[in-house]
Amino acid sequence: MEGEAMTGKACGLRGFVWGLVSLAVILGGCAALGLAPPEVAGPRLFTFPGDWTKVPAKTVTLFYPGQASWEFLTSNDHPGAPALEAGCTGCHAGQEKTLGGKLVQAGPREADPIPGKAPSIDLTVRAAYDAEFIYFQFRWATATPHAIHTLWRYDGKQWVAWGGPKPDATKKGIPPSYEDRLAVLLDDPDNVPAFDGSAATFSQVGCWMTCHTSMRAMPKDVPRNAIEPHPYWGRQGRKVGDIRKYLLISRTARDEAGAWDKVKPAAELTRLKAAGKFLDLWQWRAARSNGVGYTSDDWVLEYRNGDAGRAPFFSRPKPEFMYNEKVVGFRAIPEADLPARMGQAALIEGKNAVPLDPNARFAVGDLLPQYLQREPQGSGADVQASGRYADGHWVVELRRKLNTGNADDKVLRPGKAYPVGFSIFDDTVSNRRHYVTLPLTVGLGVDGDVKAVKVGP
Ligand code: HEC
Repeated sequence: MEGEAMTGKACGLRGFVWGLVSLAVILGGCAALGLAPPEVAGPRLFTFPGDWTKVPAKTVTLFYPGQASWEFLTSNDHPGAPALEAGCTGCHAGQEKTLGGKLVQAGPREADPIPGKAPSIDLTVRAAYDAEFIYFQFRWATATPHAIHTLWRYDGKQWVAWGGPKPDATKKGIPPSYEDRLAVLLDDPDNVPAFDGSAATFSQVGCWMTCHTSMRAMPKDVPRNAIEPHPYWGRQGRKVGDIRKYLLISRTARDEAGAWDKVKPAAELTRLKAAGKFLDLWQWRAARSNGVGYTSDDWVLEYRNGDAGRAPFFSRPKPEFMYNEKVVGFRAIPEADLPARMGQAALIEGKNAVPLDPNARFAVGDLLPQYLQREPQGSGADVQASGRYADGHWVVELRRKLNTGNADDKVLRPGKAYPVGFSIFDDTVSNRRHYVTLPLTVGLGVDGDVKAVKVGP
């Protein structure tokens, strides 16, 4: 589908028969429309007070994990199960490409493979800090930038939901459309145990302690009709639609599905949170945060919770907004033009979004984003981000206060090394289908897999 969109069709040449002589015209026309890989850039709300080219770069390999959950890793099917406290890297360091190569294919950990999915991806990381902030610069290659999420498409009569991640959209015969993402998960050293009484913490086992068999798109994905009657998650409680990342220290027991339903009493969760027994999660989103210059800021304990305040995006159950033609020159994006207009696709409250005009005329195939971006607020606005796609690469810079003063963030202190995990969502995927790192560390002025250097005064 992407290949098709990059052909003459996307230049509005559908229906024409072209001779060889016209080839140069077609190519010239496409380049003029920006169909050579486009540049996509969000605003830049901060300046890095150093020189990134002088900051040491570390390249780490992220791999496709399939459905390898915590419950799998602690089962008899995983040879490392009896020695998990020793940490994944002791046995698997350097095996990322091999693991990804195995897990990306159909097998016991992947029942529904994505055709052609790359097994791993290399990420170049630089980090620095000054008296007030930590800074990261991430760089990775991707053939096509996806700075748009799910869509509404006008079918001539009405707007219908369109796009969505691979492989689900593809199976429905809809061209996939989903945002690129980069996430950072972090903790204090040797802090959160994998479960009550475990000697393994986030430092040894990394992101896997948050990944359970009952989560959405995992083998025992909990159906809605099982969630709804549940006193904590269901109709009478938090009204969630699915189960997302969580820590087993928020559960009263463990079981094969990951104990999704065995939540500790609310007072106990509050106590754990206050004691710092949670993970901090930043998610840079190409379509749902980069347009306003931030990441979303979350914390993980009994669920993947958003930080206090406001996230950088929202959606409505029906299309309620369109582009302001006076600002951007169009009301919607014709589907053939989407690759070329990827850099203009952000629909932002208070900037280029206006209420959908019921009398406005649209053409068949016109597209609108389902999600709008907006200025985040409160603790939800702690991590600023500036992402730019050019020359086949995303370069994303982040900045956050070392100490935000907010209860849903980790405090970072110079002289210490922090356990982290990075993930990348590439080529229109969601949930479990991201690439992940084995456990890593970021040292602030001290050694780590990534060493953050001191900059500025
Ligand atoms: C004591 C050594 C050891 C430790 C510690 C260990 N593993 Fe393993 N792991 C193995 C061995 C051995 C295999 C089998 C390798 C093979 O089949 O080629 C394996 C297989 C795997 C697989 C592939 C599963 C499959 O379906 O093929 C994954 C994923 C994995 N380990 C992840 C992890 C993670 C994540 C951790 C840390 C939380 C970890 N392992 C800790 C030894 C270990």
